[in-house]
Amino acid sequence: MFNSKIIGLGYYLPENVVTNNDLSKILDTNDEWIQERTGIKERRWIDPKTDDTTSTMAVKASKIAIERSGLKKEEIDFIIFATLSPDMYFPGGGVRVQDMLGIPTIGALDVRNQCSGFVYSLSVADQFIKTGMYKNILVIGSENHSGGLEKSTRGRGVTVIFGDGAGAAVLSRCEEKSKGVLSSHLHSEGKHARELMLDGPHTGRWVPEIIAENDPEDQSYYPYMNGQFVFKNAVSRFSEVIIEGLEANNLHKDDIDMLIPHQANLRISQFIQRKFQLPDNKVYNNIMSYGNTTAASIIIALTEAWEQGKIKENDLVVLAAFGAGFTWGSVIIRW
Ligand code: UT7
Repeated sequence: MFNSKIIGLGYYLPENVVTNNDLSKILDTNDEWIQERTGIKERRWIDPKTDDTTSTMAVKASKIAIERSGLKKEEIDFIIFATLSPDMYFPGGGVRVQDMLGIPTIGALDVRNQCSGFVYSLSVADQFIKTGMYKNILVIGSENHSGGLEKSTRGRGVTVIFGDGAGAAVLSRCEEKSKGVLSSHLHSEGKHARELMLDGPHTGRWVPEIIAENDPEDQSYYPYMNGQFVFKNAVSRFSEVIIEGLEANNLHKDDIDMLIPHQANLRISQFIQRKFQLPDNKVYNNIMSYGNTTAASIIIALTEAWEQGKIKENDLVVLAAFGAGFTWGSVIIRW
């Protein structure tokens, strides 16, 4: 069995900054409400006049990650792409990235686990590397939320939270047994699928059927979230899955050097920080600037923390996520 280690990181964000005040001009909201409830000050939304899409942003992030890994793109053996907002209903984004990067016909797998997408993807990549099947895997999280949000007061509970962006990591075989991904822990509870979802269109509700209904009240095209219910589940599941990861490795909360929580809400991150009694320099948050970028959030935050020198050799890095499904998970890494 081999270990796997992150050897390259990159992210890409659309240039277009949308502040809370910008949003208050198109729907009934205000900077004070958004900052107080979520911590978000601004987010990036794709300017439709640019060529940014979920896949093109993923390619831009991937090029940086591959370059930093020191590998040639031809050395990438497999692509894992996490998103809830692919460019097309099918096929998924992985094959688009394979094509646009110009990598020969390697396998490409899409992961549909929303805010836990990157954690799930990293875990899948780790298993492929552990068994020796692949040596270098490109793991991507990318989202174009702005294209599908309801930009009116009716959708404000969801719309103000989400932002666009992409991140990528190159996970590679590592000879040192005590380094890299130490363990990953994945969970789901599908009975809560309808508490955070986008109902239509899907195979049980065909597009022609929806168009024929032509119902202006129909909100099924837009994401729905039972915010308070999701919030309560998030804080307990985040804590559980971090503890599970630490215990699996005989580690203690004081061993954590850097916690990167999925950026769902600054209040959730702060709750976890208090629960684990971590100082500010051991938790990385960027939701203030980018909002919730779902599958991209952890990898963008991890890349930023690493770029800022906040993650050093041998540090214990904990990634944790919770989101739609419900799904949640953690990955424990010795850097
Ligand atoms: O990433 C996946 C996981 N996601 C999460 O973990 C998110 C979890 N949930 C949350 O972060 C919070 O529940 C939200 C930020 C989504 C909402 O905050 P909240 O404190 O739970 O607010 P609420 O939904 O209970 O709404 C409170 C009030 C309502 O008005 P009334 O009924 O009290 O008159 C809403 O209509 O705030 C109103 N409201 C807004 N007001 C201004 C909802 N959205 C907005 C808005 N601007 N954007």
